[in-house]
Parts: sequence; C-alpha cells; structure tokens
Amino acid sequence: MLTLAVLISGTGSNLRALLEAASEPSFPARVVVVGADREADGLAHAEAFGIPSFVVPWRGAAERAAWGAELAEQLAVWQPDLVVLSGLMKLLPPPVVAEYAPRIINTHPAYLPEFPGAHGVRDALAAGAKQTGASVIVVDDGVDAGPILAQRRVPVLPDDDEASLHERIKPVERELLIETVRRIATGDLDLAAPVPIS
Ligand code: GRF
Repeated sequence: MLTLAVLISGTGSNLRALLEAASEPSFPARVVVVGADREADGLAHAEAFGIPSFVVPWRGAAERAAWGAELAEQLAVWQPDLVVLSGLMKLLPPPVVAEYAPRIINTHPAYLPEFPGAHGVRDALAAGAKQTGASVIVVDDGVDAGPILAQRRVPVLPDDDEASLHERIKPVERELLIETVRRIATGDLDLAAPVPIS
C-alpha cells in the first residue's frame, strides 16, 4: 500500500477527491497525513476522514529555508512513500525536494509547459488561449517544470472568467491525480523513469 502525504493551501477539493478514492478498499494508496502552509479550509476534509493534519505557517520568503526544514520534520514523522502537492501555493525549498525526489508530484491547472506558475488559469485567459488544460508533474526545483506524468486539454469558452474556467479544469485535475497515484501505486508508472509526454 502506497502511503501519501498531501500538502494544500486552499479549499482542498482535489484532496477531498483523493481521500474519497483512497477510502475505497481496492484503491492501492492511503493518505496518512495532510499538511498546509496556513489554516486552509481544506484541512476540514482531513478531519472528516479522520486523517491527521499539521500546519507549518508560511512566514515570508526570508524564512523559506526554516519553513522547509519544519515541513520536512513533520513529513518525516509519517515517512510517506509519495508527497502530493495538491494546491500548495508555495515552492518547496530545494532540500525538501532533494529528500523526496522523484517521489513528489504536483497538480497544475494548465497544459504544461504552457502557463506555469501561480496564475495558470488567469494567464491562459489573458493570452486569449482557445484551450488550456490540466497536468500532473514530478516536482523538481523549477516552477512547474518537472517531467509531465499526465495531462488533458480543457477548452476555454467565450464567456469564461477565471473562476468558471478553473471550476471546469479542477474535475480534470482530480481525475488525472487519482489515476496517476493509482499508476504509481501499482508500479505501472515509474517516477524515476517516467515515459515522456510530448
Ligand atoms: C488547483 O487547481 C491546483 O492545481 C491549484 O490550486 C487549485 C487547488 O484547488 N494550484 P483545491 O484546493 O484542491 O480546491
């Protein structure tokens, strides 16, 4: 059974979907802990599923290294097989990435390498893109630059705003995330040698 630590910053809808999937006896992974960089609303999903959680508050960029060290300490308690960034809106410091690489994955609301960064949905709209998408990647020290594990296109509709487009992307992110975790857990996907997606 693959054990997961999930890190969030926001509402945690992707986390919730993963918790639901992982509560099926046949699903080959279990969430063992949920962490956040703030008192995120999504922590309520962990509580609802009886999963322990922790918060390591973000204290600004000057404190990034200390924040990362504290986060790593919390994660170490649980020894997760895989760390899932599911809407964590902070870059992990390099020592944390190094400790778990390549066993850290991230979901992103755009069709990478298009529109990386914190505003992937907004940037796609601003660029006038007719389609965007969702991606799941391996985390490295770049910004949404690691190997792509799964992705799917989502059309941009003429009257879309950031919120409506994001709400249509998120269900796709959830499906890709759950499928990717399943593939990692079953050994169908080797994070050390992911098959490149072109
Ligand atoms: C997702 O679109 C994630 O990719 C992005 O923030 C959103 C998080 O949504 N970075 P939620 O907290 O899972 O609802």
